[in-house]
Amino acid sequence: MEFKSKIKTIEWCGNYSRMVDQTVVPYEYKFVDIKSGDEMFHAIRDMIVRGAPAIGVAAAHGIILYALELAKTIKDGDTFKEELIKKAEYMKTSRPTAVNLMWACEKQIAVIKKSSSEINEIIENLKENGVRLENEDIEINKKIGDYGAEVVPKGATILTHCNAGALATVGYGTALGVVRSAFAKDNTVKVFADETRPRQQGARITTFELAMDGIPVTLITDGMCSYFMNKGMIDMVVVGADRIAANGDTANKIGTYTVAIAAKYHNIPFYIAAPLSTIDISIKSGKEIPIEERSSEEVTHINGKRICAEGINIINPGFDVTPHELISGIITEKGILRPDYNKSIADAFKAN
Ligand code: MRU
Repeated sequence: MEFKSKIKTIEWCGNYSRMVDQTVVPYEYKFVDIKSGDEMFHAIRDMIVRGAPAIGVAAAHGIILYALELAKTIKDGDTFKEELIKKAEYMKTSRPTAVNLMWACEKQIAVIKKSSSEINEIIENLKENGVRLENEDIEINKKIGDYGAEVVPKGATILTHCNAGALATVGYGTALGVVRSAFAKDNTVKVFADETRPRQQGARITTFELAMDGIPVTLITDGMCSYFMNKGMIDMVVVGADRIAANGDTANKIGTYTVAIAAKYHNIPFYIAAPLSTIDISIKSGKEIPIEERSSEEVTHINGKRICAEGINIINPGFDVTPHELISGIITEKGILRPDYNKSIADAFKAN
């Protein structure tokens, strides 16, 4: 039985992009229409759209928007291509860690390079590719979900961190795709969601989308995970990823590393669920993954109110890297990759 999720995060609508505004979830569930390339750059940077696969598709849409704008003033095909590639390179800089963003921009750059110098043809090809990436994302997540469901024990309680759900992708989700597919087979499966300080993606977004889909979820604060593991209340951990190195080291939302250490200590399987587009085979290890440093207000303030003393130091890395030794498996659309990751990842790419 296939699980029908109600959420579609982002959609190309002919000549603009429509997305769920994730800065206001769960208070509001509203859509915003993004009509220019710069607006898309800011939507990604300001996290109106967030989650690695979702920002990849958003960037692909943003490049179409840049193409539509440039076509108004540039009539020479070669100049158009040159200027558009500069915009695509700029789009890559909207956030640094999730490699799906760079991957999707590269896909659009390849389309620009391959197309003739006919401007209308370039735009049509970019639109076609943008919509293809959008549709493929959901198909890939369903495959990840189905592979992942095979390792979910009956009646399992699955702990997740941050939001790697429908709202972090175009739809269905990666880690929450595994939950959805497992729940479709066994409706006694349930989720524990870490709140995910400082931006609360777990509390705000994961609980929202699971509740919307009728999947039982218990919200806990980040510091509680080892307490519940110790009580035998967590059967497995599944999280998403922003960038996976060739050796399996995985960057995901800050706090993931702590969860992985706790899972190892308690002998609980810890899985990453991610498409191959999240794997950056150009880097050997997690040491090479750029970690986004976000504004100090995310830590010092809650709902606009300062929660700490003035004049103190703040550091706010958005992501951490979980070493590959702590990862039981990487659930991809090509199946579950197991250690030795250098080999299993290379093999998955060969087969791609
Ligand atoms: O800063 P965010 O909210 O974009 O971070 C999101 C995450 O860390 C997700 O877990 C990751 O992108 C996987 S999404 C399927």
